Amino acid sequence: SPLLIRKPGELRELSRRWRKEGEIVGLVPTMGALHEGHLSLVRRAREECGKVVVSVFVNPTQFGEGEDFERYPRDLERDRRLLGEAGCDAVFAPAVEDMYGGGTTDLSSGERVFVEAGRLGELWEGEERPGHFRGVCTVVAMLFNAAEPDRAYFGEKDYQQLKVIQKMVRELLFGVEVVPCPTVREPDGLALSSRNAYLSPQERRAAGALWRALEAAAERARSGERDARRLERTMEEVCRAEPLVRLQYVAVVDAETLERLGALGDRPARALIAAHVGETHLIDNAAL
Ligand code: PAJ
Repeated sequence: SPLLIRKPGELRELSRRWRKEGEIVGLVPTMGALHEGHLSLVRRAREECGKVVVSVFVNPTQFGEGEDFERYPRDLERDRRLLGEAGCDAVFAPAVEDMYGGGTTDLSSGERVFVEAGRLGELWEGEERPGHFRGVCTVVAMLFNAAEPDRAYFGEKDYQQLKVIQKMVRELLFGVEVVPCPTVREPDGLALSSRNAYLSPQERRAAGALWRALEAAAERARSGERDARRLERTMEEVCRAEPLVRLQYVAVVDAETLERLGALGDRPARALIAAHVGETHLIDNAAL
């Protein structure tokens, strides 16, 4: 079973020792409640790196007021067992105080240092969840500083998060190679997510509409539709058939800047979708 590390300083020491021995160190940041999506990242890291660290940390600074920080599923024993089976070398599972205990411990006092995500972090999920990407950038920067990885693995499931992290790495000169990994889905297309556990059986059935909407838009794009508003309307119509799905946004965007497009053109485009299914917030996306 993999090493269990609680303190950032211990992780850094271990990682430096590995790198001195000539190993490539891979990091997979997670919030635990692991599923096949997370494990696909770990296996990919296993294939490409001599040593694999997986962090399991439910990061308080990326949750907003009234979100699910307290009730977010936590089961470190199960996670650790799954990570052992997936061939991970070390699990980094700090307590909140291990990460945020140094300096000002009141996280909302305005005293602490944060990494701002810029405009990219204010679009889409950033608008639904103000401060979310600031919290994500800050904790990922801390994880990079603690683990000093050569490579870090992120899922396309959280496409805006992937783009924000790539931008942070570029602009703040983190010497980490970000590796994007494809989304793992259920048989009906629903993207695996720790939050799917919140869905009632009825809601779970309705949630398949997100993927069906993305597929319908991608299919229309493949048959030649260039108009972004029409593609967005296609997605809305698919979801309207499911009363349990309350759309937050659907958008056809530039795959790098995530700015809304008028029409598909030469640059890669992405369809984004977010909805509440019951009380549960779900997101998904697809290449167009
Ligand atoms: P979490 O939601 O636990 O996701 C951890 C990683 O797994 C992310 O890179 C996410 O995109 C990826 N992932 C989740 N579901 C996936 C799926 N169905 N297929 C492929 N990859 C999937 O994202 C976070 O945690 C946090 O914001 C974090 C980056 C750890 C910072 O706290």
